[in-house]
Amino acid sequence: MGTKPHYDSWINAKPFEKKKHINTGNKLPSDFHGVLYRSGPALFERNGQKKSYFVDGDGMVHSFAFNGNNICYTNRFVRTKKFIEESRKKEFIYDTWTFRAGQDEFDEIEPPKYESQAYIAPVFHHKKLFVFDESFSPYELEPNSLETIGRSTLGLLDPQAAFSAHSKIHTFQNQWLHFGLKHGKQAEVYFTILDNEGRLLNSFSQILPRAVYVHDFFTTENYVVMCLHPAFIRIQSVLAGTRSFINSIKWLPEEGNLIVIYHKSGKEAPKYYDAQARWWLHSINAWEEHDKIVMDFVGHSSPDHLMGTSPMYKNALTGTAHGPYAPGEIWRYEIDINNGNLHEMRLFEGNYEFPTVHPDRVGLKNKFSYMVKGNTQNPFWNTVVQVDMETGIQQEHCFGEGVYCSEPILAPGMQGVNFGPNESVGLLMSLIHDGINKCNYLAIFKSGEINQGPLTLVHIENEIPLTFHGCWRRTINKEL
Ligand SMILES: [Fe+2]
Repeated sequence: MGTKPHYDSWINAKPFEKKKHINTGNKLPSDFHGVLYRSGPALFERNGQKKSYFVDGDGMVHSFAFNGNNICYTNRFVRTKKFIEESRKKEFIYDTWTFRAGQDEFDEIEPPKYESQAYIAPVFHHKKLFVFDESFSPYELEPNSLETIGRSTLGLLDPQAAFSAHSKIHTFQNQWLHFGLKHGKQAEVYFTILDNEGRLLNSFSQILPRAVYVHDFFTTENYVVMCLHPAFIRIQSVLAGTRSFINSIKWLPEEGNLIVIYHKSGKEAPKYYDAQARWWLHSINAWEEHDKIVMDFVGHSSPDHLMGTSPMYKNALTGTAHGPYAPGEIWRYEIDINNGNLHEMRLFEGNYEFPTVHPDRVGLKNKFSYMVKGNTQNPFWNTVVQVDMETGIQQEHCFGEGVYCSEPILAPGMQGVNFGPNESVGLLMSLIHDGINKCNYLAIFKSGEINQGPLTLVHIENEIPLTFHGCWRRTINKEL
């Protein structure tokens, strides 16, 4: 006893499905309405077989529905094809990122069986709730009960359409933008742009100049941008089943990053720009400024938290994750789309992850970004921070050692689209695991006053495992 790290109760949480009503007294504005959704991996063991990386888990979605100070918390596993069949057989049937069902190693020449885990990113759009995995079309859930409706094609007729975990909603253009990677003889990227009713505006695919693993992309008013870091995939190994997906990725920093800009029409030739090698998982935001495209992201010198000899993503499940890991620094590319120049600059040193911006600023210049921050010696993050991207001033709240923060999501102020200083009007929410007291709570801050600590902590008496991403659904009172 006492030897397990504090994060063990978070990463190895065994959640049960629950619906719970909570009242926060008078800590929140009485006219505050909406729903916070979050998703992450939540099931790693069946019939004595335990997975080793937390990216191998099955998806669970959580919701916090606010009606003033009355909150309804709900959590449910996504009833994917994989989850249903494996629950029925009481054992793992499908392979995942690092896991081969029924055997310990990727050592047999047998095609792997992959199915969606539906765990990475929830998105609420055109009154529907979806949860995305890395390379499958999403699952649709009923937005209030979280019951699984089924696999969705998003209404697209093109069987070639592809989706990755991250999409972008441009509220200023009424667009929902997706990218998806397809790895075959050649690597391709497939873009899909929907309107605010979920109707297709445009889709197109392009051959990629290199076959790499990429988790996110950048979008602006007129462009979609891929940042192809040198994480090369040997797709033949994945398809043959001789290597896990992660062991098929090779980091070749000497190849540098390759940034590819596509016009949203799909009718202009792509433009290519070289940069130093920098592993990245998450964009912060991108926008156009005169003839420039500005792209902010969290960049690392290496992907040592995901792969290599002692990756955090693996060791966390066994309680053996120890730093230091390559820190997640805040980087900026400025690309002159006319003369082909790319300037890269490190905006902030430190160790950041899970960046978000005001939902109405996606694709437009943002003043503030929200993210988590931590010490590179320890896995995970214990601080919520609001970064003023113009002045560099950071407001933060540290929860202390043994407490873990999740991606902060801004519930915007009720004034609609906010500009300038009002961009920060709203409530900022981070789901917290206290590994010392073994409890979970949603910390709610007033944006712009992060230094003053949370307005309230909404305690959830349930095991809540790590969640990756979330979104905010704006509602009016009578919707909930
Ligand atoms: Fe992500």
